[in-house]
Amino acid sequence: MAETRFASLTEACINEKLIEKAGQIIREGGLVAFPTETVYGLGGDALQRASSRKIYAAKGRPSDNPLIVHICRWEDIGKIAKKIPPEAEMLAKAFWPGPLTMILEKTDAVPAETTGGLSTVAVRMPRNEIALALIKAAGGYVAAPSANTSGKPSPTLAEHVREDLSGRIDLILDGGAACIGLESTIVDLTEDRPMILRPGYITREMLQQVLGCPVDVDRLFTGREPEQAPKAPGMKYRHYAPEGELTIVSGSEQDVTDTICRLAEEKMRAGVRTGIICSKETRQFYHADHIEVMGARDDTEAAARQLYAALRCFDSKEIAYIYSESFPGAGVGTAVMNRLLKAAGHRILAADNIKNRRENT
Ligand code: TXA
Ligand code: MG
Repeated sequence: MAETRFASLTEACINEKLIEKAGQIIREGGLVAFPTETVYGLGGDALQRASSRKIYAAKGRPSDNPLIVHICRWEDIGKIAKKIPPEAEMLAKAFWPGPLTMILEKTDAVPAETTGGLSTVAVRMPRNEIALALIKAAGGYVAAPSANTSGKPSPTLAEHVREDLSGRIDLILDGGAACIGLESTIVDLTEDRPMILRPGYITREMLQQVLGCPVDVDRLFTGREPEQAPKAPGMKYRHYAPEGELTIVSGSEQDVTDTICRLAEEKMRAGVRTGIICSKETRQFYHADHIEVMGARDDTEAAARQLYAALRCFDSKEIAYIYSESFPGAGVGTAVMNRLLKAAGHRILAADNIKNRRENT
């Protein structure tokens, strides 16, 4: 494919001409990467089969993994979704534009290519002025997965998109760092009870508060039970994986730091490049080839913002083993731990056990 163009712009002062050009590329069947508040998206026309096929090809993504359709006005939803329950409007009023994706029954306007053959469609209205202007200029319906190569961490900077997709797409719009840093919460509204298929910035508690009813969680999104598939097809793939082997260490702060120090030292003594993911408070205890600090211990929003860039950084420094502290599970912390566990292939060590084992031998 031809050269990928790169253009910078800001939310505060949208370059109308550039957006018009980008919208035209999408209308004509091309692909444009753009910023959203969660991660960068790779946009194509959601209503054109060929565009969705191109998206899968550019990412190297399995075509049974459906795409999210991004809209910029609530009124536009009727063209792509039917049997829209009142809950959808309640959630849209509370959280759109914002980091929430809703699964609804699809209409015939949405080609099977966009939904990976499903009869449902994922819909989201992102909270980013560049994204909203682009969707409008592109005709209103932009299919956009995260703009990474399949299996890599999602991009939170335009530079990450360039690393992965240069030469495979038409244009990258650089709007700066994504302010949330993890993909949207996905909630399925096609069953009797709403169900979270992927945790994100909008938590179960926030959804329950707006809806006034219980919201289920698809426990299978962890992908640990191989015989049962999670409802969001994308959650079954090994995702967000750094090239090095990532292990999460859990337990009390003291045990975790002791264990990570010991494991990292062992590897480094063996001449293997080793990395650590930690909090600001514990940084001082560690020594490794590369250390990524996620922010203050309880600042899970900072961890969300930095996690993917950190995982990419270990790759660029050719780190073979990475040890990570675990992060508190409240609020967006649930989503942080979900992504971290996936990146680690669920390799989690209980620090207490290791210590006890050592004391008993
Ligand atoms: O924050 C986000 O949602 C970002 C930005 C760019 O908007 N997009 C994103 O897209 O994360 P992607 O393609 O990387 O992840 C979409 C997820 C996948 O796990 C997919 O299986 C699920 O949404 N999904 C899409 N359509 C679905 C459907 N009809 N039913 C169930 N899951 C669906
Ligand atoms: Mg993705």
